[in-house]
Amino acid sequence: MGGVFVKPITGVKGEIQVPGDKSISHRAALLGGMAFGETHVTNFLLGQDCLSTLGCLRELGVAWERQGTEVWLHGKGMDNWQEPANVLDAGNSGTTFRLMLGVLAGSPFSVTLTGDDSLRSRPMRRVTDPLKQMGARILGRREGNLAPITMQGGQLLGQSFQTEVASAQVKSALLLAGLRAKGETSVQEPTLSRDHTERMLRGFGVEVQSDNTIVKVKGGGKLTGQNVSVPGDISSAAFFLVLGSLVRQGEMILPEVGINPTRTGIIDVLQAMGADIEYLESSEICGEPRAALRVRPSQLRGIEISGDLIPRLIDEIPILALAASLAEGETVIRDAAELRIKETDRIKRVAEGLKALGATIEELPDGMRIKGRPELHGGEVSSFGDHRLAMTWAVAGMLSQEGVSVENMAAANVSFPNFLEIVEKVVL
Ligand code: S3P
Repeated sequence: MGGVFVKPITGVKGEIQVPGDKSISHRAALLGGMAFGETHVTNFLLGQDCLSTLGCLRELGVAWERQGTEVWLHGKGMDNWQEPANVLDAGNSGTTFRLMLGVLAGSPFSVTLTGDDSLRSRPMRRVTDPLKQMGARILGRREGNLAPITMQGGQLLGQSFQTEVASAQVKSALLLAGLRAKGETSVQEPTLSRDHTERMLRGFGVEVQSDNTIVKVKGGGKLTGQNVSVPGDISSAAFFLVLGSLVRQGEMILPEVGINPTRTGIIDVLQAMGADIEYLESSEICGEPRAALRVRPSQLRGIEISGDLIPRLIDEIPILALAASLAEGETVIRDAAELRIKETDRIKRVAEGLKALGATIEELPDGMRIKGRPELHGGEVSSFGDHRLAMTWAVAGMLSQEGVSVENMAAANVSFPNFLEIVEKVVL
């Protein structure tokens, strides 16, 4: 394999400002494009996924400019979006694809969305079925399950939905469609998923009622352009929380990380495993809490992770599995079957990859069982084009005995451009 070789390190020291939150960046662009008036976004994530959202907006006639991580959107209201002359490409981004379907369900024109090989194999019926119930006309392979998908929007009628899985992408798509539907749309989830859409819609002036796992919007809500400051992405910070816990020496500070309670499962679990992570200054900006995080080395212990915790750390399970493989004792992760339909089958790929590096790990239908050990020897693994696997393997390399060669490390750019160059700055 001709991968990038990541060598072992002994410690880290310093400060890392992780890039902007991916979920919040998508929503800032999308809501800015749906709104009337100017939206100014700061600390926008320049990962491929969020650039895909901006690219789709451009095709729909939304004017915007970007300078570095600042984006200005000149919204004319979603009812003034134009029929795109070409297929919309969401790239690798499930959030772009599913949220766009929601907004476009109420547009009076027809549009086809597609994405890369991974996205074209991910299930879309969880969004297209309920949107069809609201009145949208949708065509796609396997009864509207697989992209490319053609949406022929139209008059929508609000509905009450009970979703089978806690998915912020599904919830958000239905709420955004609900804004353009007649009457009320409500979504009840089995467990609360990340609530960035609800928080940001309120910031843009839309009334959103929520009571734990039930959220409601009324049709006809108008959005007004806003200033949005995007906090650092806790899912990107997760790689440093694990690295900083498992190196032998040093200390790392991660300023301005988003600590929305629907996302902090990773901190709760690492602390329960014995990690030395502290919240320093905290504040709330644009409806989203943030804090500086400090992490110091410690001995981690195995733990059981399941149930309501899972949606609060779903994207962090690959890096948590690495932490568990270097912890004392056994870790069991259950109720996480959703991992099989992420950018890759993350249960299979994490289990295969960690095994190749020397871990003791067993794949379960909905999770994994990991027996911790004092060290991983290292070896060769691939990201399979999955950004979170690429970064997990890079951290594994730094914590291993002999280093790790990561095939397709560039996949990290989807959510964390220049990941390795940035880590380099804090390596002792
Ligand atoms: C996201 C929701 C989650 C998460 C994804 C981002 C979002 O997906 O895994 O990385 O921004 O709404 P699901 O909605 O499929 O759980």
